[in-house]
Amino acid sequence: MSYKIKLRSLALSSALLLAGPAFAADWAKVPGLDVTLFLPGQSSWEWALTTDSMSGAADFRKGKDCAVCHIGEEKDMGPQIAAGTPRQFKTGEKPPIEPEPVAGKPGAIQATVKVAREGANLLVHLDFAEGTQPDMHQDPATATTVTVMFNNGKVPEANRGGCWAACHDDQAGMPSAQGATRTMYLPKTRAKLTRQGGGDTLAAPDQLDGLRAAGYQLEYWQAQLNPGQPAKAVTQIVFDKRAPAPRNIVTAEATQAAGHWSVTLTRPLATGAPFTDLGTDAPYYLAFAIHTGHSAHRAHYVSYERVLQLSGDAATLSNPK
Ligand code: HEC
Repeated sequence: MSYKIKLRSLALSSALLLAGPAFAADWAKVPGLDVTLFLPGQSSWEWALTTDSMSGAADFRKGKDCAVCHIGEEKDMGPQIAAGTPRQFKTGEKPPIEPEPVAGKPGAIQATVKVAREGANLLVHLDFAEGTQPDMHQDPATATTVTVMFNNGKVPEANRGGCWAACHDDQAGMPSAQGATRTMYLPKTRAKLTRQGGGDTLAAPDQLDGLRAAGYQLEYWQAQLNPGQPAKAVTQIVFDKRAPAPRNIVTAEATQAAGHWSVTLTRPLATGAPFTDLGTDAPYYLAFAIHTGHSAHRAHYVSYERVLQLSGDAATLSNPK
């Protein structure tokens, strides 16, 4: 699946100028990848690496990636996790991993994701219907957020485990948090990781410097959405915490009709430090998260990671093999 995108010139009416750039990809011509996002409950990195908690842990440690076992199962995982009741598998019953189930919240969301190169930019486009979403009152300012987690390929844990590499057992709302408000962080930024996560003791300063120099970070590109209002774009970086990037590098456009969102995030290929200049040298990875119904933190739908390839003026997205 490799394709080019044609530029379609739009009339430069003042309304369009207000709405966004004067060129837009013709998304109808770009093939989409089906991505199912699901409510992950309290399934942390440490949980997933513990065989008693997640029986694929041993095979993961031997080299089989999360996505390879799980893509295709998310529409069943989400509802049974979200229910907050014991989970049923062929091999038997497992305890719930969602202590605060929300009545009426759908367990999974189906999205179609398209990527394209347009001039000097990478575009990521998501189409999805969020269904009927209870208001969770956790983020009063924003109804829906769409987040793309970009991995430049230099975070080995995320190459294999997607967002779970940044999701630890002692973060806000997770089982070992003990009231702490820690945000996402990457495993190697901690002096040591236990089943409870990495706590607040960071790796030695020279080790952190080395990790930074080696590009060990995730970029977090987010569109904050409210019906009838322009999308707001935010860039953050996940390293030893999730923090606003020194500058915003993405723009976001969104439309909503009949409960269906179409969201496009645009990022320049060349950005300069501390971001990754996108070239053709690496497979990159994208993973997706959607918060709905004014939800925040872990009350989100998440996907396993997908592989992004750039070559010539084409961009392709595919499932990991
Ligand atoms: C070898 C295949 C395999 C791999 C690799 C694997 N898993 Fe699993 N996973 C399973 C199986 C089997 C289950 C069913 C529950 C059980 O037996 O623990 C499961 C259950 C889960 C669940 C709960 C599903 C539900 O419906 O309740 C989550 C979430 C999960 N895995 C995440 C991960 C993550 C994250 C990784 C990578 C770090 C991963 N898995 C790697 C096989 C795998």
